[in-house]
Amino acid sequence: MRRRRRPDRAIARDIRDPTGDARGLDKRRLSAFLAAVARTGPIRVCHQGEHRIMITAQEAPELPTFVSHLECSATGATFPPDRLHNLSPAGKPLLVRYDLGALRRHFSPELLAGRRTDLWRYRELLPVRRRENLVSLGEVVTPLVRLPRLEQELGLAAPLLVKDEARLPTGSFKARGLALAVSMAKELGVHHMAMPSNGNAGAALAAYCARAGIGATVWCPADTPEINIREMELQGAEVHRVDGLIDDCGKLAAAACAERGWFDTSTLKEPYRIEGKKTMGLELAEQLGWRLPDLVFYPTGGGTGLIGMWKAFAELEAIGLIGTERPRMIAVQAAGCAPIVRAFEEGVEHAPRWEHARTVAAGIRVPRAIGDFLILRAVRESGGFAIAVEDEAILRARDEVARTEGLLLCPEGAATMAAYRRALAEGRIGREQSAVLFNCASGLKYLS
Ligand SMILES: Cc1ncc(COP(=O)(O)O)c(C=O)c1O
Repeated sequence: MRRRRRPDRAIARDIRDPTGDARGLDKRRLSAFLAAVARTGPIRVCHQGEHRIMITAQEAPELPTFVSHLECSATGATFPPDRLHNLSPAGKPLLVRYDLGALRRHFSPELLAGRRTDLWRYRELLPVRRRENLVSLGEVVTPLVRLPRLEQELGLAAPLLVKDEARLPTGSFKARGLALAVSMAKELGVHHMAMPSNGNAGAALAAYCARAGIGATVWCPADTPEINIREMELQGAEVHRVDGLIDDCGKLAAAACAERGWFDTSTLKEPYRIEGKKTMGLELAEQLGWRLPDLVFYPTGGGTGLIGMWKAFAELEAIGLIGTERPRMIAVQAAGCAPIVRAFEEGVEHAPRWEHARTVAAGIRVPRAIGDFLILRAVRESGGFAIAVEDEAILRARDEVARTEGLLLCPEGAATMAAYRRALAEGRIGREQSAVLFNCASGLKYLS
């Protein structure tokens, strides 16, 4: 039996997206192209004239995803994928699990070379099965912006970086989670999605639902930034203002979903937003050459991003792309709403509701998080901590970074800078430790 030749890696790396166009490739590069394409799906071969052959990679309808099952984050009970799920029967978030052994054999950094620089470049580690269901608004890989003046002022011996999520569609990182949640909803036949929101998530839900032709309804605290409400409405969502906080809004969303058969897309009440947020961790690792920073400062509300990144690092290790080293995960909250900080300090597993929550950082005004135990677990496993900062420190940090570095952070992003300063002053972190601060939305949304 003739053995099939493996594609020459050096040549394959030279080739752009294997789902692209092979016209003009010489014989050697063409065979590597075909091998790369064969791994992702079918090709179309068109003969042009007697001597020329044009071979075009056909967009494969099936995506090479490796989802094996869903798993209850509390009990470990398993559930089949490819059907609609909210919370597990234990009332806890479900996590998407992949066949990591198969992924380890299939996935390599070379596979990413030449792919588009958006979150779908990690498609093998994402759950969408059919290309036609991808709902995309042009998500970009967000830059790591260095803060050289502040590094100097603080006497740092390692880079201080901001992952600037403001560049995503709808101006916030909520685009990542909702791109995945809406794509999966489309794949699973959902007609209407609903959620509570402090602003950015609702705006992203509205945008991606409009794109997918799915209905959207959002409940927001009455003092949600007006710009977010306008965004949601302009993008076709029905918006209800509620005299209460986000958990009050969540109850109204749940009741409406039960009554009208809508799909509840609340934070961690469906399994796919976390998969979208996970791409922050995948991206971070790839951007830093498959190494991770020493410290990650994350503005924590519902905690999807923090939990998602922690999941990403575990998956990357399991498939052999990174080693065992992990960043210390630092959950940043506002002093006026710090349930996770209180639970961290008390050493408990769950974070009871924070009464009378108040802060200028609307995105992290979450009095109770359903994934509290997952946030606390990730923070503790990583050797990190949870830290609260006052609103005055948040606004001071925003002004300082804007003036000295030309980067206008959102209040939640500014909270991470304020927390960084405080942690440094208190000796909880070192000047030689590299750090990434997450700026999760555009500062422009908060100027009115
Ligand atoms: C700008 C911003 N930062 C941080 C958060 C908190 O994100 P997570 O739910 O992942 O904790 C939000 C959530 O609304 C937000 O809008």
